[in-house]
Amino acid sequence: MIRLLDKLERDRRLTKEEWVRLLAALEAEASGESEGPGVREKSDSYQTQRAQEAPGEDTPARPLSKELTARARETARKTFGNRVYTRGLVEFTNYCRNNCYYCGIRAGNQNVDRYRLTADEIMECCREGYKLGFRTFVLQGGEDPGFPDRTLAHLVTAIKSEYPDCAVTLSVGERDRATYQMWYDAGADRYLLRHETADPDHYRLLHPSAGRPLSLANRIRCLRDLKEIGYQVGTGFMVGSPGQSVETMAEDFVLIQELQPHMVGIGPFVPHHDTPFAKEKGGTAEQTLRCISLLRLLLPQALIPATTALGTIDPAGREKGILAGANVVMPNLSPTAVREKYELYDNKICTGEEAAECRGCLSGRMELIGYELAVDRGDHPSREDAQSRGDHSSHEIQQDRGDHPSRGGGKL
Ligand code: 5AD
Ligand code: FES
Repeated sequence: MIRLLDKLERDRRLTKEEWVRLLAALEAEASGESEGPGVREKSDSYQTQRAQEAPGEDTPARPLSKELTARARETARKTFGNRVYTRGLVEFTNYCRNNCYYCGIRAGNQNVDRYRLTADEIMECCREGYKLGFRTFVLQGGEDPGFPDRTLAHLVTAIKSEYPDCAVTLSVGERDRATYQMWYDAGADRYLLRHETADPDHYRLLHPSAGRPLSLANRIRCLRDLKEIGYQVGTGFMVGSPGQSVETMAEDFVLIQELQPHMVGIGPFVPHHDTPFAKEKGGTAEQTLRCISLLRLLLPQALIPATTALGTIDPAGREKGILAGANVVMPNLSPTAVREKYELYDNKICTGEEAAECRGCLSGRMELIGYELAVDRGDHPSREDAQSRGDHSSHEIQQDRGDHPSRGGGKL
């Protein structure tokens, strides 16, 4: 199996079958079927694999998962040092026209107290965020027809003109290409749209096909449009969602290696009590951390957040995420009055804290593990000096926004 890690590090890609083998071996090790080098022979998949490999070349001193974490952490350190990028998250509307089975703010949930921030309120969040050192604002919301696409375009332009040294990331779901283009022209730099699962059948299990149908094909169409337009693009998936298997996860990794996104957000699936998946089992922190590390080896320069969902199921989840190869944290800038209403899953953390408290808390947490929060855009390294958004970036003040390295001078 170490051979597969070597191959992943060398080629930055694996075949689907190789992903399946690697993921299965990691799961087997975690479930105790194989614990540490001495017990590795217990696992069939290891045995098969070992039989195919030259003897003596696959004898690491530590278990596969430890080796994986160490390599992923080292890879992130090489590219980003001990700096962790921050994004100020503004959850500006919890209205949503969709009915994803896993999501707490799905249209069918009558128990949600719906809210929509005004443009002024959103600007105020950014003002506060800027003072605190944020240089990327992520505007996230449900697919809300009550917040017109044009209004969002004007808002993006307003934020970019008041904070030309900041990146604006949008995360508002599926639209047609023309709308994505309009937002890009308005100044948006990056777009987050998790694919959720790369397996069409699994996708149908997570999303309704009646009412407003959602399809994997359209999701991928959106991601490709966004990339072609010039956004720094983020995708991702939930770990441990109902129906997920090593096969579907292998497909996730294959899609990601084909898409080459600048950002990848993954977090554990956490059940929400008012959804059809209320009684399903959630994903685990360990499984999520393994996926973070694999992603880091697959995409050494990618922006990978240690997510709030990970911090929700494990009090030290975000620290562990960083130590597993993540390099971004996304504290909340939304007004505390609405925080609890943006409840995608149960027991979400940080709903009571002011933005400043959250930033202070995270900064302390990062320092304790030897990292520091960066005050910069945090572009993807490939965009740091490339000014990939020629039209917009050329007149931007180049501070560090925490873009994907491919966008070093740009955005994500
Ligand atoms: N548990 C974990 N993550 C969730 N998301 C939505 N609902 C849940 C849940 N119950 C994630 C989805 C979505 C992102 C904004 O939040 O992956 O893309
Ligand atoms: Fe929000 Fe700790 S990060 S309170």
